[in-house]
Amino acid sequence: MTKSIKIAHITDIHTGSQYFVNNLLTRVVKELNDLKPDVLIVTGDLTTMGFKQEFTTAKAFIDRIEVKHKVVIPGNHDSRNVGYVHFEDLFGPRNLSLKVEGLTIVAVDSSEPDLDTGSIGRERYEWVKEQFSESDGVRIFAIHHHLLPVPGTGRERSTINDAADVLEVLLDCNVDMSISGHKHVPWSWRFENMVVTTAATCSTLRLRGNIKPSYNIYEISGKTISIHRQYPYGERDTMAIFEKAGEGKHYLKWRRARLRSLIVKGIEEPAETGNI
Ligand SMILES: [Fe+2]
Ligand SMILES: [Fe+2]
Repeated sequence: MTKSIKIAHITDIHTGSQYFVNNLLTRVVKELNDLKPDVLIVTGDLTTMGFKQEFTTAKAFIDRIEVKHKVVIPGNHDSRNVGYVHFEDLFGPRNLSLKVEGLTIVAVDSSEPDLDTGSIGRERYEWVKEQFSESDGVRIFAIHHHLLPVPGTGRERSTINDAADVLEVLLDCNVDMSISGHKHVPWSWRFENMVVTTAATCSTLRLRGNIKPSYNIYEISGKTISIHRQYPYGERDTMAIFEKAGEGKHYLKWRRARLRSLIVKGIEEPAETGNI
């Protein structure tokens, strides 16, 4: 790999929700345009009910983010009311892969019409494997639903139905990191030689406990990958740093104490909270 790569991961925008905060998303767009990432990944729940006007609003924001490569997939909310039709019209295929120098991203639609649960399904495993074949750089898998339970989210009920089989497929593909949204809690687990990461909602107050809205930034420099949580209007903290597996070494540094601090330290209101 010749240069470092910066990836921005936003998710669960939820336009149309009474908890959507226009100024938060406006701020995220500004911060990302200042950050200038190489790739933007949006892991679904762009909308609340899958309505066309909600998609149009989400797209207007995403279009304002000046990034060369954008990978956008739907979430369960986007497949309500046949919303996947609008998704395809506005964003294109619901399953896609991106290969840039030193990086392969495979993104899959895990949603099912009018269900909050999701799956990938055996028929798509081979497609996923093909996309990762002949990839020599960092391998990232993106999906809306989480693959492992996320702490601080109450009763577990919506990892994808075939989560165990998908985890096995991803390990077979030597995936370095899987990224998701859905639970609105930012977290990272190590699972064998893969890191399983979630991002929070970036633009709503649909939040559990005192967790604040945030998005994730991934920095890849050589074999080292850093995972940061960025709070709009606020600070950034580091969730994990690890070295890409593959040559017998895999080193991860975790900050487990952060979960408690996320839940109990109290939400700081954004500077402007209009249009709730
Ligand atoms: Fe969501
Ligand atoms: Fe969701």
